[in-house]
Amino acid sequence: MTGIVHLVGCGPGGVEWVLPRARAVVASADVVFGPEDLQALFPESPAPRIGLPSRPETAAPLVRASLERGLDCAVLVRGDCGLHSLAKGLQARLPPGSCRRVPGLSSVQVACAAFGLDWERVRILSAHGRELEALSEADRTAPLLAVLGGGEGFSTLLDVLRTGLGIRRIHLASDLTLTGESLRSCDPQEPIPTGLSSRTVALLETISS
Ligand SMILES: C[S@@+](CC[C@H](N)C(=O)[O-])C[C@H]1O[C@@H](n2cnc3c(N)ncnc32)[C@H](O)[C@@H]1O
Repeated sequence: MTGIVHLVGCGPGGVEWVLPRARAVVASADVVFGPEDLQALFPESPAPRIGLPSRPETAAPLVRASLERGLDCAVLVRGDCGLHSLAKGLQARLPPGSCRRVPGLSSVQVACAAFGLDWERVRILSAHGRELEALSEADRTAPLLAVLGGGEGFSTLLDVLRTGLGIRRIHLASDLTLTGESLRSCDPQEPIPTGLSSRTVALLETISS
């Protein structure tokens, strides 16, 4: 007998941004995997809690072990499970049909809303814990680029993109929905702030936007 793995998007971090569906799924899980800050969003869940490594190849065997014991598992991920999350790598390493996704609000949606921007034509790039991938033509011509990242070197990366792409304005959303949320915008002549939180979405408005 095997259980089910729910890959649960928990939103950007604030407790009031957790969807009721996520709360119901976590409440009925036999075991809840995920980082401590996301676990804290579900104090009502009676299930045992287990931390997970961030790499799917080391996380998957832990989840699989519970699954093979017939346990229903909830794996908590930041934002939405369909955007640069552990969900993709886990799902690829677990038995076909064993995973169900529970969407959550993405930090990109919340960042766009905070600055009053539509996200229908946004191109999303990730510099979270890795080098930024090479930009495609579609990235270069998109009216709005969202870059996931933060921490050391992120400001420099944004500066390079700004110069290379002729960016009109950069909006920085850090620690969205959390205590200490910060929203800032930079015109081309202004320096990009350094020391950005590791949870930052940068929205780059191009000339064509
Ligand atoms: C591994 S990615 C996960 C993205 C997530 N699946 C989503 O839909 O938001 C981590 C990146 O998400 C962004 N992020 C997550 N939570 C955030 C928050 N509360 N405020 C700003 N950015 C956040 C940051 O860019 C961070 O580097």
